[in-house]
Amino acid sequence: MKKLMLVIMAMVAAVALVCAGCGGGEKKAAAPKEKVMRVACEPTFAPFEFQKEGSKQFDGFDMDLIRAVGKQAGYKVEISNMGFDALIPALQAGNIDVACSGMTITDERKKAVDFSAPYYTSGLIILVNKDNDSIKSLADLKGKSIAVQIGTTGEKKGRSVEGAKIKAFNANTEAVMELQNKGVDAVINDAPVVGYYLAQGGAKVAKTVGSVMEAEEYGIAVKKGNKQLLDDINKALAELKKNGEYEKIYKTWFGETAKK
Ligand code: ARG
Repeated sequence: MKKLMLVIMAMVAAVALVCAGCGGGEKKAAAPKEKVMRVACEPTFAPFEFQKEGSKQFDGFDMDLIRAVGKQAGYKVEISNMGFDALIPALQAGNIDVACSGMTITDERKKAVDFSAPYYTSGLIILVNKDNDSIKSLADLKGKSIAVQIGTTGEKKGRSVEGAKIKAFNANTEAVMELQNKGVDAVINDAPVVGYYLAQGGAKVAKTVGSVMEAEEYGIAVKKGNKQLLDDINKALAELKKNGEYEKIYKTWFGETAKK
């Protein structure tokens, strides 16, 4: 009897072993392929995205943030650069997955792409040469020449000024250079970028006038309908805000804590 029991037990064990080997679910899954997030920016927008002279590395608040978002959400982040006005078409064409480039969330852009939750509050401001005493506000730009970056909210604001002559540049740094060379009367650009420029030595030759115009929120843009990626980004952003990482990155670039 004992012997029979042993035989039965051995048979049961053998069957169990064989089954373990044949169940599809038991098959060792191949290591999941690393998810890649193809990010693009226009890197003449310090302190959000820029390349130090002679360096290919992408530096700045946005760059640190998107790398942290990617890490948090389990993506390998690959960053490339292109013209600011090329970012949305590149998303639409599927050539990139993410645009992280100090991009203001606007109703118009929302028709073309989807945005993450806002991650930074900004606004436009006017920059003039230090010796200019005639321009004090947007109204004073009437009939004047204004340098802007192509495709930006600054360009849009400039074009709304009656009789103003707009010079639109591919790079933000070119617009500022044009002001320095007295090729234009003013630049309209995002206030934190203007502030950074002034702090880095620009204050010797230029100054802001008036106050920051209406608030603009920056968002991370993805192709319209890419819900999975957008969810991953929003979840990661929320987590980084919770765990202090966002605050750390903010302090690195702005030297203060984020406005709540
Ligand atoms: N916030 C402005 C906009 O969305 C300017 C952004 C420019 N960004 C850049 N990386 N050059 O139009």
